[in-house]
Amino acid sequence: MTSKTPKLYLDVLRPDQWEIVQHPAKFKVIAAGRRYGKSTTCGNAAILDAVNGRRVAWITPTYKNARPFWVMVERAIRELVGNKQARIDRKENQFTFSSGGSISLFSADNPQSILGNNFHFIIIDEAARIDENVYYETLKPMVADTDGDIWMISTPKGLNWFYTEYLRGLREMKELGERAEVAAFHRKTSHNPNPNILKAYERVKREIPSVKFRQEWDAEFITEGVLFSNVDANIYGDMPTTLPKQNRNDMWVMGVDLGKLHDPTVAVVYDVNAGRVVWIESYHSNYTEQIERLRTLVGHVQPAAMVVERTGNQGVIEMLQNANLPITPFDTTNASKTRIIDNLIMKFERGEISIPNHQELIGELLMFEATQGKGSAGIVRYSAPRGQHDDHVIALALAVEAAHTGVTWEAIIA
Ligand SMILES: Nc1ncnc2c1ncn2[C@@H]1O[C@H](COP(=O)(O)OP(=O)(O)OP(=O)(O)O)[C@@H](O)[C@H]1O
Ligand SMILES: [Mg+2]
Repeated sequence: MTSKTPKLYLDVLRPDQWEIVQHPAKFKVIAAGRRYGKSTTCGNAAILDAVNGRRVAWITPTYKNARPFWVMVERAIRELVGNKQARIDRKENQFTFSSGGSISLFSADNPQSILGNNFHFIIIDEAARIDENVYYETLKPMVADTDGDIWMISTPKGLNWFYTEYLRGLREMKELGERAEVAAFHRKTSHNPNPNILKAYERVKREIPSVKFRQEWDAEFITEGVLFSNVDANIYGDMPTTLPKQNRNDMWVMGVDLGKLHDPTVAVVYDVNAGRVVWIESYHSNYTEQIERLRTLVGHVQPAAMVVERTGNQGVIEMLQNANLPITPFDTTNASKTRIIDNLIMKFERGEISIPNHQELIGELLMFEATQGKGSAGIVRYSAPRGQHDDHVIALALAVEAAHTGVTWEAIIA
């Protein structure tokens, strides 16, 4: 009787991936771009180790993130499962092998579930999105008994603990070479030769602000801060003292950030065809007076569209609508704010916008920053630094947004 040896289906790693896998360091920190092949590189190493009898843990920020790896393992070991040399335990999120090895999947947002285990090999996929306490207090001690290995692979997220470990790896490799305990690797998405991924790489480069592209696709560690580049180069001259005259074919739109208790109302008038900010007005005053002033400004500008922030201002919005101003309300969420600010950042990067030499606007642009949200999601929030204002930046972003909201009929008929 012939018994066929079951096959293990693994990917053939590329040389740039293989270099990471075969490095002798116990701790590996891999900063790699989106779709580089992070999960593939570590996933194949994890499967091979478990088949060979080691206890492996696969950690992701949330359970949902583990799905592609689960599918990869199922595919790789299907003949071993058929041959009873491997077992799939869905309830426990675990694969076990007749060699004694195992792969257990855990979510870092539930560190309690990981406690009480020890492993020969831990892989932290999307490590930069995992809380640093989970790494230092829960995961790192779990390889102490076994003198095991930990690989951390991720797209960078600012200068957090993953960056600290990355720097440690660089330093040790420089000082100790192959004897380094921690090794660091850097890989861009463009290392992946898949034509569709390369196409996406080139397309996204044109579609998102360069700081974001450098972080997500070129896997660079970006300092939080400076977002608006090129501000000086985009200044056309002094701030006019009176509202300039509008030519017949001009299309002017407005963005308004309504003042709350401590900040002013700011209105920005933007010439869509010229990509130029033609006028900026701001005032601290009561609602009735603000509405009166806005009404006067609208009367002079006759904007084709006008976007006003609604969040927290529903009452004023209704008053503006009752005053027959052609407004489109804008609801601010983290996502909608990110979208309009990203648009504005790109306009500055590409030199598609020009602004007058307006002290407050320029000051706010230069100070405007991105901060990393706490927790596993790692969401980026855009805002002024604590205690500073961003009303001029928001009004400008809303004016640019107004250029895309469509033109009011009144404006066309008039
Ligand atoms: N060595 C390889 N051989 C063949 N295909 C590969 C290899 N490495 C990566 N790929 C392919 O590239 C794509 C991205 O791989 P993978 O999902 O591992 O990347 P990732 O960096 O984890 O992506 P994400 O940023 O979405 O988490 C997949 O289609 C994968 O099959
Ligand atoms: Mg992945």
